[in-house]
Amino acid sequence: MTTRILETHGLVNIVSGHTIIDHLDFDIEEGELRVLVGPNGAGKTTLIDLITGRFPPTAGQILFRGQNIAGWPRHRIYGIGISRKFQVPTVYENLTVFENMAIGLRGHRRAFSSLVFRVTSEHAAQIERILAQVNLLARAADEAHTLSHGEKQWLEIGMVVASEPRLMLLDEPTTGMTRDETNTTAKLIKEIAGARSVMVVEHDMSFVRQIANKITVLHQGQKLAEGSVREVENNLKVAEVYLGREKISAAP
Ligand SMILES: Nc1ncnc2c1ncn2[C@@H]1O[C@H](COP(=O)(O)OP(=O)(O)OP(=O)(O)O)[C@@H](O)[C@H]1O
Ligand SMILES: [Mg+2]
Repeated sequence: MTTRILETHGLVNIVSGHTIIDHLDFDIEEGELRVLVGPNGAGKTTLIDLITGRFPPTAGQILFRGQNIAGWPRHRIYGIGISRKFQVPTVYENLTVFENMAIGLRGHRRAFSSLVFRVTSEHAAQIERILAQVNLLARAADEAHTLSHGEKQWLEIGMVVASEPRLMLLDEPTTGMTRDETNTTAKLIKEIAGARSVMVVEHDMSFVRQIANKITVLHQGQKLAEGSVREVENNLKVAEVYLGREKISAAP
């Protein structure tokens, strides 16, 4: 029997009178790699904001391993094992790649100033292992501002992995990447997904095809369709939402 790591029930988010998330029932299985797509403004980032406690929902439940975490503060949600990568890469530009990773380490984010320069050899080995995985080992001593946009995305993914979450939420991880970098990222995400549940928000359908088993399509804060890549691509309601574009892959 599969178990659900995340479930939302009747999730609603209303901002300034606008319904952004509209009675959403959504779930992710333990160990699953799920892709979330949808046109601009569909509510994808907002859903991640609600799950991670950036702001509380207007109504509804967010169950993480059966426990309702709706409205919990961010640090508490992070503490129980949910980490996110932001849509715009969010790294500490003036710290080195290695120091950024040290901040990502589980439990260390809040003790930031005291810990960065006192990393145990065990932690250093862990950081190096993850940096190798995200192709940044050779850049460990470089300050983050020297990285390309794609490399900053990898660093932030590395920081999320270092926090050892049970559920990782990655918001548009391939934005700004070259085709080669995007393909490498697809492999990377498949690798890291083996050990934990991952939800990836993406527009790039060639990337989605490489990683997805199951896709959820969000539109106006509601679930429009869910299924395999083929099912979603052939879904008429989905085609309608992407009207004016040849197919989903034509989205930015
Ligand atoms: N703080 C806010 N105040 C008012 N409206 C907001 C706020 N944040 C988001 N919205 C609105 O909520 C809707 C959903 O936005 P969201 O960023 O979740 O979409 P998205 O699916 O992530 O889009 P994209 O693909 O462009 O990243 C949009 O209409 C947006 O304008
Ligand atoms: Mg977004």
